[in-house]
Amino acid sequence: MKSNGRLAILGASGHGKVVADAALLSGWNSVAFFDDAWPAVSEVGLWPVVGDSHVLMEQALQYDGLAVAIGDNGIRLEKLRLFERSGLHPVTIIHPSAIISSFASVGAGTVVCAGAVINPFAEIGFGCIVNTGATVDHDCRIGDGVHISPGAHLGGGVQVGRATWIGLGACVKQCVRIGEDSIVGMGAVVIRDVSAGVTIVGNPAREMEVRSS
Ligand SMILES: CC(C)(COP(=O)(O)OP(=O)(O)OC[C@H]1O[C@@H](n2cnc3c(N)ncnc32)[C@H](O)[C@@H]1OP(=O)(O)O)[C@@H](O)C(=O)NCCC(=O)NCCS
Repeated sequence: MKSNGRLAILGASGHGKVVADAALLSGWNSVAFFDDAWPAVSEVGLWPVVGDSHVLMEQALQYDGLAVAIGDNGIRLEKLRLFERSGLHPVTIIHPSAIISSFASVGAGTVVCAGAVINPFAEIGFGCIVNTGATVDHDCRIGDGVHISPGAHLGGGVQVGRATWIGLGACVKQCVRIGEDSIVGMGAVVIRDVSAGVTIVGNPAREMEVRSS
């Protein structure tokens, strides 16, 4: 297996453990964790937390790549952009059991978890999470910072705007367009287009509240 070297992971969270596991299985030699709650947060799983974002910036040259394992879409994007501007390049992490069409594209800083499937001509943006067992069918367009939670399914040609969160087990009908910064609740069945900045739940999914951005 190709060796990628040392990976720095920002975010000592449950998702951080998932990212570390996928990284080590996909060829990274070692991982080092950072978290802005350091030193109060000093370990995650088997790994010590060795600093916060500032320490990571100072030590950037010691690492061969960076992943940001923060579930909040806005914060994840903000951190990824910050590091990118500092010359520390976010890498794409793909669990070896994920199936990604050679005709699909996956952006930098995106994590594709175990058992996820991304079909031909789907385009996944920068800093996304395609979580465990999620499926993204042909021709989908997934904006930067989107999180597709475990077991969610997007039909062909679905468009999802920047920083939107698709909840656990949600299903989105083919060709539906979902705006930026929205939340699709777990288990929702989305059959029509969704505006930006709203939360929708249920079957068929309906707007729950209008959130201030
Ligand atoms: C939609 C969601 C964001 C709402 O969270 P919230 O604002 O904290 O909402 P609350 O839990 O206070 O519930 C508010 C109301 O919405 C209902 N509700 C919440 N989530 C719902 C869902 N997914 N489907 C249907 N109804 C839901 C609640 O029953 C409650 O109804 P009530 O006022 O009649 O009692 C959240 O429930 C959700 O689905 N999050 C996604 C979780 C997920 O996918 N995690 C993945 C981790 S990897």
